[in-house]
Amino acid sequence: MKDNEVAVISRNSLTIKTLDDKPASFQISQVSQSIGEIEKGDFAHFMLKEIFEQPKTIEDTFRGRISPDHTSLVLGGLIDIFPTILRAKRIIIIGCGTSWHAALVGEYLIETYARIPVEVDYASEFRYRNPVLSPDDLVIAISQSGETSDTLVALRMAKEKGATILGVCNVVGSSIARETDAGVYTHAGIEIGVASTKAFTAQVTVLALFAIKLAHERNEISAELFHELLRELTEIPAKIRTILEKHLIIKETAEKYKDAANALYLGRGALFPVALEGALKLKEISYMHAEGYAAGEMKHGPIALVDDNLPVVVVAPRDHYYEKIVSNIQEVKARKGNIIAVATQGDEVLREMVNDVFEIPDSHPAVTPLLAIVPLQLFSYYIAVLRGCDVDQPRNLAKSVTVE
Ligand code: F6R
Repeated sequence: MKDNEVAVISRNSLTIKTLDDKPASFQISQVSQSIGEIEKGDFAHFMLKEIFEQPKTIEDTFRGRISPDHTSLVLGGLIDIFPTILRAKRIIIIGCGTSWHAALVGEYLIETYARIPVEVDYASEFRYRNPVLSPDDLVIAISQSGETSDTLVALRMAKEKGATILGVCNVVGSSIARETDAGVYTHAGIEIGVASTKAFTAQVTVLALFAIKLAHERNEISAELFHELLRELTEIPAKIRTILEKHLIIKETAEKYKDAANALYLGRGALFPVALEGALKLKEISYMHAEGYAAGEMKHGPIALVDDNLPVVVVAPRDHYYEKIVSNIQEVKARKGNIIAVATQGDEVLREMVNDVFEIPDSHPAVTPLLAIVPLQLFSYYIAVLRGCDVDQPRNLAKSVTVE
């Protein structure tokens, strides 16, 4: 339905009118979801079901886009507009909450591989700060629901200022999807848990596909790296399955920390937004105060919080930030903080240093955010359940924020 329309549905009829009582034109289309998707099945909560669905939803996001031999990548919704995209001098990504965190991961990926300047802004700030925009700018609006008011108004404003607008939405036919010039759907399926999980990993997958496509078209990466990145993405579902298989270790760790008053999450590079997202998941469903920080910022303030009551979750896989993050871990350890590390499988050095470890399989750094977030989603889930919280419908939150 369009804005300002009202539907009247009875057993035998459907009418749609405008608010001033005129008949509205409409088309009926069948949604592709099955009824099973809106049932919990054997899971205690929708959030847990959606966390466990991620191997499938990520596969649905790249299926039909990456060729089976990893030599080509097609983003159907962008084909016609790609010449305009290639002319863009700057990309601005806007979103709210979890979608804003996905945007931050996108910033790292696009700048690293496609070498175009990227800015990320909260839609609620962007819409009011009279940003400088021109037809050389490409604005990407990210939204699971496609109905978030701040994001919708921000994209309308950017359109008025002449920028090209792309959408990354999950809900097909949503307002944001309709009002953008072109876009890429995430295909994560219906997300019912208020705390976003599978929609986040689907958004990051789309942004990774977009960054790889742009890098390839702009000749910023070699054919070998192009194939390698596509292959690495297709290996993610199987790797997430191995993390999910070890969910009981995460549950046991949650038992240890469930009564903490605060938690600090640290990460570097594209894993800094993963730390932000881990902290958001914890606070929104367990009501435990949590903050995410770029690990290098710790000594500029948050280190004052560290004592033997503070759990510090450090996203520390073996990548080119490893040495740096290990020294951050040592700083926390020296102040008796309790460290939970998200570490590469088999990293015994880190295991010796920290209190608890969530292992993730080794992967290319471009796709590690898709793995690193999964144990953090499970950790928040188990803490919230142990604290007796309403996981699927946390207090004061709505699934779709259609008001300012
Ligand atoms: C967090 C969460 C919210 C949404 C935000 C944006 O788990 O669900 O922070 O991410 O309200 O919503 P969308 O993506 O629908 O625009």
